[in-house]
Amino acid sequence: MPPTRQARLEAEIAAAVHALRDGEVIGLPTETVYGLGADASNPAAVRRIFELKGRPADHPVIVHLADASQMDAWAREVPPAARALAAAFWPGPLTLILLRAPHVLDLVTGGQDTVGLRVPSHPVAQRVLREFGGGVAAPSANRFGRVSPTSASHVLDEFGGSLPVVVDGGPCEVGIESTIVQVTDSGARILRPGRISALQVAEVIGGVVEGAAADSPRVSGALKSHYAPVTPVQLIDGDALRARSVEALRPCRVIAMGHLEPGVGGIALGDEPAAYARGLYAALRDLDGEGASRILVERPPDEPAWHAVADRLQRAAAGGGLDDEEP
Ligand code: TXA
Ligand code: MG
Repeated sequence: MPPTRQARLEAEIAAAVHALRDGEVIGLPTETVYGLGADASNPAAVRRIFELKGRPADHPVIVHLADASQMDAWAREVPPAARALAAAFWPGPLTLILLRAPHVLDLVTGGQDTVGLRVPSHPVAQRVLREFGGGVAAPSANRFGRVSPTSASHVLDEFGGSLPVVVDGGPCEVGIESTIVQVTDSGARILRPGRISALQVAEVIGGVVEGAAADSPRVSGALKSHYAPVTPVQLIDGDALRARSVEALRPCRVIAMGHLEPGVGGIALGDEPAAYARGLYAALRDLDGEGASRILVERPPDEPAWHAVADRLQRAAAGGGLDDEEP
């Protein structure tokens, strides 16, 4: 890295730690998506996150920690399965939902008896968390219901004037939000799919249930229309997409797995799930800005490796009111 860029990063990290101590909200890179971070023990600072996002106050936020040894300070009980998952996947794109410790703010938990904890692996997030020392409450750095940011410029586009610092840690390596696993004494349940798959979780703890139960706590990412761009998003089978003429596709933008026909506007994200996930939110943002009538997304294969991507695509499509193909 050229010295000027390194020096700028060092200055941003120092400013971020300073701002967290001052009770301000910062833009923080993680390996999944960028977060809006604030001191999780400072009620005014956490309240400011909700104001900025326009998020309902009863939606809980994840507390980010520098390492797993801090888990016991935030959870009043850590079942062995949670410890095993932390050992296997932290630092990394996994959030554990555990019973909260008594001091955890209601603002952070949304008034529930549980708290979400995550140790991110991004080296810049690690630096900020280590130097700050405490827990950092951080939802994704997008306005409520919109697409999560995967670069510093996405955060600046949405919140630039309102944040004292957005630390530029480069594009996010994972590109979709962390896998959320609720662990109780009676078992584990995946509340939000992500890069870490149900199979990987099951390999560590022996078994896991997928999907929220009727009485599961509120997960805003589980609202049907989360993650939606403004332009309507429509999922379409690859064959149906390829059957459409260049002319018919002109008003649309296309997110394809394979290549795009000449004259068709859009982005090809490839057929490898991790790379696809990495590029997805930036593609939705870019295409959303082009004033198309809709964004047509080639439906990925119905396979476990595509589960997390398919989940985000379904939500994006639900937001546009077009949850399936045209008849
Ligand atoms: O990858 C990620 O998890 C990113 C980065 C910034 O770490 N964060 C993120 O935060 O996606 P957010 O707030 O956009 O989504 C976190 C989800 C929300 O849907 C929230 O409802 C859920 O986690 N959540 C947080 N605490 C919870 C709890 N105690 N019980 C159930 N769900 C919880
Ligand atoms: Mg979010």
